[in-house]
Amino acid sequence: MATALIVLAAGKGTRMKSDRPKVLHEVAGAPLLAHALMAGRQIAPARTVVVAGHGAEAVSHAARAVDRNARVVVQAEQLGTAHAVAQAAPALEGHEGDALVLYGDTPFIRPETLARMERARAEHDIVVLGFEPADPGRYGRLVMEGDRLDRIVEFKDAGPDERAIALCNSGVVAAPAALMFELIEAVGNDNAAGEYYLTDIVGLARARGLTATAVTCDAAETLGVNSRTDLAAAEAAFQARARAQMMDDGVTLTAPETVHFAFDTVIGPDTVIEPNVVFGPGVTVAGGARIRAFSHLEGTHLARGAVVGPYARLRPGTELAAGARVGNFVEVKNAGLGEAAKVNHLSYIGDAQLGAGTNVGAGTITCNYDGVSKHRTQVGRNAFIGSSTMLVAPVTLGDDAMTGSGSVITEDVEAGALALARARQVNKPGMARKLLEILKARKKKAAEGAD
Ligand code: UD1
Ligand code: CA
Repeated sequence: MATALIVLAAGKGTRMKSDRPKVLHEVAGAPLLAHALMAGRQIAPARTVVVAGHGAEAVSHAARAVDRNARVVVQAEQLGTAHAVAQAAPALEGHEGDALVLYGDTPFIRPETLARMERARAEHDIVVLGFEPADPGRYGRLVMEGDRLDRIVEFKDAGPDERAIALCNSGVVAAPAALMFELIEAVGNDNAAGEYYLTDIVGLARARGLTATAVTCDAAETLGVNSRTDLAAAEAAFQARARAQMMDDGVTLTAPETVHFAFDTVIGPDTVIEPNVVFGPGVTVAGGARIRAFSHLEGTHLARGAVVGPYARLRPGTELAAGARVGNFVEVKNAGLGEAAKVNHLSYIGDAQLGAGTNVGAGTITCNYDGVSKHRTQVGRNAFIGSSTMLVAPVTLGDDAMTGSGSVITEDVEAGALALARARQVNKPGMARKLLEILKARKKKAAEGAD
């Protein structure tokens, strides 16, 4: 029977010192909440319920961006984790399987770990995810009896013997949904924090003769974010894993520690990535591409053998066909380059399509915006755009068309035509020297006048 996911995301995250709800702070270009939902999605949940509170509207928006069917319930007052889970009950009406509770601020739980918890549920009524952090600090402690979990004690309520326990509660817990809600009804708030602790359901279940156990995972998976320092540590952990994974998958990183990936970056084998390259969301790169130093890419697809940079900026909607090249100080946005097309120097190509084999000279700009609307530039195959051409969109140039350097192209150019759109040059013999003498004389006269 499929499991329902309950993701707790109502907390404010006071220590973030932010106007933004904590779960919307980003790691690798996606909100913490999205990471938690993406991990949960791997178990193919029957339903997903997000418990929002602070910034509920924005949290709801972020949840639906990952899972259109996610239900968002609002916990108006944060009275504790048990109270938070109770808010999900109406949304899980009629759900007969398990409920799995995740935290929206804990982004790295692996699907394999959740699968192990599901398997452990075959033998126990409640399964809690535990871990042994280097510093157990203020985490809840798991009180075990052999492989049985007896109860969870919150740090604030724990005595010295309990505080000495190394095994800590991650907060992730699985149980039949109906049982979980039933036990929560019996949870009180007579404790050091005056909160309704979800962790109390373990003791309550044991008192009823039910069983609980703990599945353990690496502390790296349960890393939670409570402060900007934690956020930076989460980012670093993500990047370290992503770099290692890329190299395992056959991607060369010449200086791995300087390359930053997004949560969804996909790169094919035998691609080489030089130092200081940053990937925003939505980048896919086929094999054998080269991304040279100091380039920034987002929302971009590179086909086989494309070469980018150094110092290139590829913005959303960029598509480079096989062997296309974008060189230094070039910005491309919402534009496609055909096979082996080249834009090698100091250009802006936006809302455009360049045909295969077309070469764009240095300093060329597609003038795509008239202050109100965006317009497209269409260039055929094997065209040659002279340096510093202004392509004033909407405009279309045919196959094999050519433009003279410095042209301002406002009208379509048919296939095979040369377009010259600039003032004709006039040379005046001796005029430069004459002009210089006039200017010098003028300056001298002005200086005498001032004395
Ligand atoms: C909780 C656990 C603790 C565990 C730790 C792991 C309880 C009582 N304690 O403690 O055993 O070691 O997590 O990080 O469960 N939340 C709500 N609504 C609320 C309260 C919390 O949505 O009313 C959300 C928070 O936004 C957060 C999560 O639940 O994402 C955990 O809450 P938090 O207050 O951080 O719990 P801890 O005290 O850290
Ligand atoms: Ca916490």
